[in-house]
Amino acid sequence: MDRFTAPLVEAGVTVETVVVRPNPGFPFPWTSDTFFGEMPDCVLSVPRGLEPFSLGATRYDLIILGYTPWFLSPSIPTNSLLQDPAFQSVLKDTPVITVTGCRNMWISAHIRLRKSLEDRGARLVGNIALVDRHLNLVSLLTIMHWLFGGKKDRWRNILPVPGVSQTDIDRMSDYGRLVLPALAGDWSGLQPALVGAGAVDVKPHLLFIERNGARIFGIWANVIVRKGNRKPWLRAFKWYIMFALFLLGPLVYLITQLIIRPLFYRKVNSVRKHYLYLN
Ligand SMILES: Cc1cc2nc3c(=O)[nH]c(=O)nc-3n(C[C@H](O)[C@H](O)[C@H](O)COP(=O)(O)O)c2cc1C
Repeated sequence: MDRFTAPLVEAGVTVETVVVRPNPGFPFPWTSDTFFGEMPDCVLSVPRGLEPFSLGATRYDLIILGYTPWFLSPSIPTNSLLQDPAFQSVLKDTPVITVTGCRNMWISAHIRLRKSLEDRGARLVGNIALVDRHLNLVSLLTIMHWLFGGKKDRWRNILPVPGVSQTDIDRMSDYGRLVLPALAGDWSGLQPALVGAGAVDVKPHLLFIERNGARIFGIWANVIVRKGNRKPWLRAFKWYIMFALFLLGPLVYLITQLIIRPLFYRKVNSVRKHYLYLN
C-alpha cells in the first residue's frame, strides 16, 4: 500500500494512511484449530472488535482499501471494517480502489466486498490483486509453511518463498502512477490501464474452484454455527478443504485446460473479462 501511494505523495496529493487492527488480534502463527475455527464467522460476515481508529476527514476524493480474503470471503477484520459506522459514512458517494494481497483466490471475496461497498453508496473504480504466482499446489504448501510455521522463508530450501513476490510488491508504484490522471475525476480509464499493466489477472480454473467453493463454504458455515460442539464439524471441514484443494484442485485444472477452455473459449473469456474490468 505504501508503494502504491508513493507516486501520489510525490505528486503532492495528501494521502492519509489508516491502519485498522482487530481487537483482540488473531494469533500468529496459526494452529489448525485457530485457523479453521474462524471459518464460520468469516464466511457469515460476523464482525469482531477493532482497535479504535480515527479518520482525519469526513469526505475523501478516493479511498484505497487494502484487504485479504479468508475462506473465499473478505477477512474478519475487513468484514468488521465494512460494518463500522465511521467507515461507512466516508464510503458514501466516494470512489474506491480495492487492493488485495492473497494466495491466489480473491474473486469470491471481491464479489462480496464490491456488493458491500455498493450497498454503502461507494463506487468501485479500480481493483488490484496481488497473488502468489507459483502453481496452485506449490503456493498451498508454501503458505501452510508460512501461516502454521510462522516463518516466511523457503521450506528446507526446496519450496519457493511464500506469498506475493517482492517484484510484484515493487510494481505497485507503477500502478499508483496510473491513478494520478484519474484523480481529476474521470475514473473510466483506470481499470483498463491497471489490467494492461498486469495489476490483476483472472485464472479460469481458479475461478471455477472458487465459485463452487464459496457456495459450499456457505453451507458448511451455516451447518457448523448451529452445532453445540463445533469441534468435530470443523475437523470434518478441514479434511473436506484438504481433499478439495489437493485432489479436486488438480483435477479441475486439467478439466478446465483440456475441455472447458477449448470448447467454451468465448464464454470463459467473457467471464474472465467481466471480473477483470469490473463490469
Ligand atoms: C484464515 C485465513 C484464510 C485464508 N483464505 C484465503 C483464501 O480464501 N484465498 C486466498 O487466496 N488466500 C487466503 N489466505 C491467505 C491470505 O489472503 C494472505 O495471503 C495471507 O494471510 C498473507 O497475508 P497477511 O500477511 O496479510 O496475513 C488465507 C489466510 C488466512 C489466515
